[in-house]
Amino acid sequence: MANQEDHFKAVISHAKEYGYVFPSSEIYDGLSAVYDYGPLGCELKNNLKQYWWKSMVQLNENIVGIDAAIFMHPKTWKASGHTDAFNDPLIDNKDSKKRYRADVLVEEWVAKIEGKINKEVQKATKRFGDDFDEAQFRATNPRVLRNQEKIDEANKQFKSAMNAEDLEAVRQLIIDLDIADPVSGSRNWTEVRQFNLMFSTEMGSTADGAQTIYLRPETAQGIFVNFLNVQKTARVKVPFGIAQIGKAFRNEIVARQFIFRMREFEQMEMQFFVRPGEEMKWYEHWKEARMQWHLSLGLPKEKYRFHDHLKMAHYANAAADIEFEFPFGMKELEGIHSRTDFDLKQHQALSGKKLQYFDPEINENYVPYVVETSIGLDRLFLAVLSTALETETLEDGSSRVVMKIPAFLAPYKVAVLPLTKKDGLPDKAREIMDGLKLQYNCQYDEKDAIGKRYRRQDAIGTPFALTVDHQTLEDDTVTIRERDSMEQERIKIEELAGRIAQKLQHTF
Ligand code: GAP
Repeated sequence: MANQEDHFKAVISHAKEYGYVFPSSEIYDGLSAVYDYGPLGCELKNNLKQYWWKSMVQLNENIVGIDAAIFMHPKTWKASGHTDAFNDPLIDNKDSKKRYRADVLVEEWVAKIEGKINKEVQKATKRFGDDFDEAQFRATNPRVLRNQEKIDEANKQFKSAMNAEDLEAVRQLIIDLDIADPVSGSRNWTEVRQFNLMFSTEMGSTADGAQTIYLRPETAQGIFVNFLNVQKTARVKVPFGIAQIGKAFRNEIVARQFIFRMREFEQMEMQFFVRPGEEMKWYEHWKEARMQWHLSLGLPKEKYRFHDHLKMAHYANAAADIEFEFPFGMKELEGIHSRTDFDLKQHQALSGKKLQYFDPEINENYVPYVVETSIGLDRLFLAVLSTALETETLEDGSSRVVMKIPAFLAPYKVAVLPLTKKDGLPDKAREIMDGLKLQYNCQYDEKDAIGKRYRRQDAIGTPFALTVDHQTLEDDTVTIRERDSMEQERIKIEELAGRIAQKLQHTF
């Protein structure tokens, strides 16, 4: 792929062409930052959800799941702080009339300077070859050090301005960093204002005095308000977790980058309730466990990194992101937050109900502390898709588009392809498919030449293609072709299920 921007465009158009992701209500020209998942997209999404659920809930005895409603009592959001503090700092450019998130402008400036540092490192790597000591170079090279200092200073100023809610200082930082409007290049900025991200709607008829309610901006609160219900009914003891997968809604202002930043999206969250004072131990535990989970997916290790938060959300005393290298740079994929006892205490105060746990081991009542893991399902989907899509040049000079989705996550596992539509081959192929489809999602395809059908399966990411030919009728063997290596092997039909199972085997 020529460059990352082209690659990203290719991912978006491939996703649409093959039924992974469509713009929402496209016949009406779409709805900004809202997307629909097509037949293949919802299969991949379901596989991602199942993998997360299996590893977080079913493989952990002390984690249970719930499915709370999207609508919640409005006091929920007062208690959680979202009504008052779930804001983005916005700034407008007076010339282009474009609106930006002030924090994103600063982040992009930082990424630009980081890019300069990385270029220096790359140049030095080439110059010094095998002897190159990157850590030493970063710690001693004057240009790298100067740029790192600039980054640290900008981050420090931004953090202190946001913590002090000093929006004028945020504006001044943008001016001091000489940040220009990415579209027009103008530096003519308005003041910075706060904008609340929650969507609201009315419940009940207006005649009865309808109530304003919100579409939840995170799934977490459905877990907090059910803390006692779950703890009592599931008879779980601290430390324990409650997990949930569900939709969340945010009126994002800078909504771009495809399914990376959407207005309606899906989260997979887990709140882990611990003894006060033990939260940092569990925070470190979950940081590490979640990184290991990501690595278990099979995407390249070097695409991940941790990023510790400078600007903490209103509820957290420690927070880190697991960042992933998307085609538009290293960006947040998952957040791990030490949320203290903030949420439960707030709900206790506003509801007047005790949200405490009696710990029989220490004979004490307390409000548990919480460590949260929160991953955006759509971002995970994009991470998989953008890494999987490749254009390969083959030995004969031709090229093929292939989606190297980790086999255990692929929408279809097996394509069943009769060589021709005649001589009873389709019937035999269907018989083979009937023997597999209960276990594996299979696709039957008899249209076009076999080579073209292989390419079609490569393009949608199917890891195995079975070709049924005349020999099959004689000796009950088929050709099994592997997507990534394109290697073909003749095997007995009775061995198929075992062979596929072996290839799809996945350890957590
Ligand atoms: N309960 C904590 C929470 O919601 P967050 O960092 O605001 O924390 C968690 O969001 C995750 O949700 C992010 O790491 C990201 O993957 C995903 N996410 C957040 N906003 C999103 C959006 N507008 N579109 C898609 N995914 C989003």
